[in-house]
Amino acid sequence: MSIDQLLSDMWNDYVLLNPKALEIYNLFQQREKKVVNDHVAFRTFNHKSVNIDVFAKAFVNHGYVKKDYYEFKKKKLDAFHFEHANPDYPKIFISELKIDQFSESLQSKVNDFIEQIDPKIIESENFCISGRPWGISFKDYEELKSESDYAAWLGAFGFRVNHFTVLVNALSTFSDLSELNSFIKSHHHILNTSGGEIKGTPQEYLEQSSTLAYNQETQFSDGKYIIPACYYEFAKRHPMENGEIFSGFIAQSADKIFESTDKGQ
Ligand code: NI
Repeated sequence: MSIDQLLSDMWNDYVLLNPKALEIYNLFQQREKKVVNDHVAFRTFNHKSVNIDVFAKAFVNHGYVKKDYYEFKKKKLDAFHFEHANPDYPKIFISELKIDQFSESLQSKVNDFIEQIDPKIIESENFCISGRPWGISFKDYEELKSESDYAAWLGAFGFRVNHFTVLVNALSTFSDLSELNSFIKSHHHILNTSGGEIKGTPQEYLEQSSTLAYNQETQFSDGKYIIPACYYEFAKRHPMENGEIFSGFIAQSADKIFESTDKGQ
């Protein structure tokens, strides 16, 4: 599979979970020549079978290189971002939940999930969008959510894109992020206001905003429930003192962005 094919499969799978992202993308397409993705974000567990390095394998095989490390202490997450030499390809941001820092009950649930995965799926090139390979009840989901929204999201959806992020710098019809936010709101999409609509400042070289997660009907072993799925993100990058555009992430801002999946719109 080519990297272009994988990226296009990722997008198609993502818009199934968040059809509003496709609506917003189409709104951009009506006024822009090109919509470029800044990054695509994934979530996993720090278990040795599915941790960041295992998860990143398909991307590394396609020429992606592991870059900066980020720590989210309160949410008990580690993350790395990966970059491709070809700047047309989005950065890949992968975080992992440090399950050893949670209760015995959460750990045993997660270990039980992971035991249900066919190793062939983990080896496959599209493991990152292979979905949920385990059974989960809504009660399990709620128990996970009482300890970690992140664990509950992963438990419910498995391995799928968490969000795509539009690179605002590459849009020609918006002068800044707040103009873009107003445009999105004027089309009746709801933004995540946790920590303010815009996370980060030009002084930190990165400003980001996002929609609230789309509420998706999801099948559990004991019925269908509507839960928050994926959100769409917008990033404006700024030059550093040396004139180069900042290519990393700000843990403090991402911390608030993670909360876009805690409650849906
Ligand atoms: Ni992001």
